[in-house]
Amino acid sequence: MARDEHLPWVIKYRPKCIDPKPGCVMPVVDQEQAKRLFVPWLKQWLSGRPPEKKAALFYGPPGCGKTSLVEAAAHEYNLELVEMNASDFRRKEDIERVAKVAATQMSLFGRKKIILLDEVDGISGTADKGGLDAILNLIEVTRHPIVMTANDPWDQKLKPLRDTSLMVPFYRLSERYIVEVLSRICRAEGVKCEHEALELLAKKSEGDLRSAINDLQAIAEGYGEVTVHLVQALVASRDREYSPYEMLDHLFKSKYAWQAKRAVSHANLDYETLLQWINENIPVAYDDPEDVWRAHEALARADQYLGRIRKTIDWSLLAYVFDLAGPGVAMARKRSRIRFRYKFQYPEKIKMMAQTKELREIREALAAHLAPKLLVSKRRFRTEVLPFLQIIFRYNPRYAARLAIGYNLTERMVKYLAGPAANEVLEHMRLLLLRMEKPKTAAEAAREERAAARAETAAATTASLEAAKTTRSTRRRRTTTRRRRTTRSSGQRTLF
Ligand SMILES: Nc1ncnc2c1ncn2[C@@H]1O[C@H](COP(=O)(O)OP(=O)(O)OP(=O)(O)O)[C@@H](O)[C@H]1O
Ligand SMILES: [Mg+2]
Repeated sequence: MARDEHLPWVIKYRPKCIDPKPGCVMPVVDQEQAKRLFVPWLKQWLSGRPPEKKAALFYGPPGCGKTSLVEAAAHEYNLELVEMNASDFRRKEDIERVAKVAATQMSLFGRKKIILLDEVDGISGTADKGGLDAILNLIEVTRHPIVMTANDPWDQKLKPLRDTSLMVPFYRLSERYIVEVLSRICRAEGVKCEHEALELLAKKSEGDLRSAINDLQAIAEGYGEVTVHLVQALVASRDREYSPYEMLDHLFKSKYAWQAKRAVSHANLDYETLLQWINENIPVAYDDPEDVWRAHEALARADQYLGRIRKTIDWSLLAYVFDLAGPGVAMARKRSRIRFRYKFQYPEKIKMMAQTKELREIREALAAHLAPKLLVSKRRFRTEVLPFLQIIFRYNPRYAARLAIGYNLTERMVKYLAGPAANEVLEHMRLLLLRMEKPKTAAEAAREERAAARAETAAATTASLEAAKTTRSTRRRRTTTRRRRTTRSSGQRTLF
């Protein structure tokens, strides 16, 4: 107990069980949906029949119980917790060494394991591609349940993880649950806490229990009691960024204009993506057609302002974008009911853009490569030249091969232009290049020499004929100037 006295309370009061039960003071509160998805999945693992998805991805805002639920499960089912953190993912070998051993060997004394890869969104950079592959490989070979956690799992680079995992959402904790945990801690610590002070702490934490507990401990240890006055004076409101889902949740549940504006201006998204998320989720949040129409109207105007900012670089207009996309959309609700939980969706357009990203990149590379050579703008190239090039490449592979070699196109560019005829074009290119590189045989060289000699004689004959013609005409006209000119030109012809 003496050792516990210096522990941060977030560690000291970590949940030890999933649901409340006798003998367990600290259960994981709230997060019913996560528990409903996770517990049967884990039980299937423990019964010896691994589920189809061998990994689970817990995602949601900070301090709401993702890591806690894994720890509580390990405690409750007596599992050995093998934990890796974002900093360990940096190197592929580290994951392979530590995690693979854990994933393939049974524990001593037959104790089962659960593997926790905490904060996998920390590995979304390209430099960590190897780390990501190693995790995917680990999921394939594992003999133990793997749980990953992330605040923002929607990064495109994490898509392979999303596809192979059971997605388990976590939400900001409601104030009621935060107050419940805080007062339990106050009782356990014997600290006098005003109920309203705990409510205020909960409000300021914005659903992040970790920060609420830390604030509680700081005040309690500093002042021996927790009062409204102290909370007001000491705890600043948190100004955090919202994930797309949180932003939508705040936006469509806001009662006041300032709440809606705050939701959009604190979103962790670039402005175009922000409008896209709202756009595709308006029909999810509103069921009344007129509400939907009003919301789209406001959003369209926000988009116009954004366009104007792009053209004029006048960022003072950004306030209007937020006003229209936030309060404009939120206040469009006249008849639709506010629901407790919405099923917001990932925007189709963003998904599609991600899928066509590679094609768009090749098209851009082609424009950058060919537009200057053809003396047209990139835009004109895309709209007027590219369609014809595609037709040539698809229907005249032999000619296309010559163009491709002449313009030095890469294989990816040829494939993009030729589509289904790509193999044919590439084959013609190969033959052409071979012919261009092939050394001449003696017979070919002799044939070429003879042809060159023939061409030379022919040229000489033409030249002398021309010269004779000019001399005749010079004599006929007998003008000195003409004669001079004709002599010069005949001289040129002979040279040629
Ligand atoms: N649902 C919860 N029930 C009980 N305690 C919780 C809950 N959520 C958070 N806590 C408390 O907050 C602390 C931090 O929670 P936890 O580590 O689970 O957050 P997290 O969701 O993993 O956050 P992060 O995304 O920052 O890693 C825990 O030690 C626990 O004391
Ligand atoms: Mg965590």
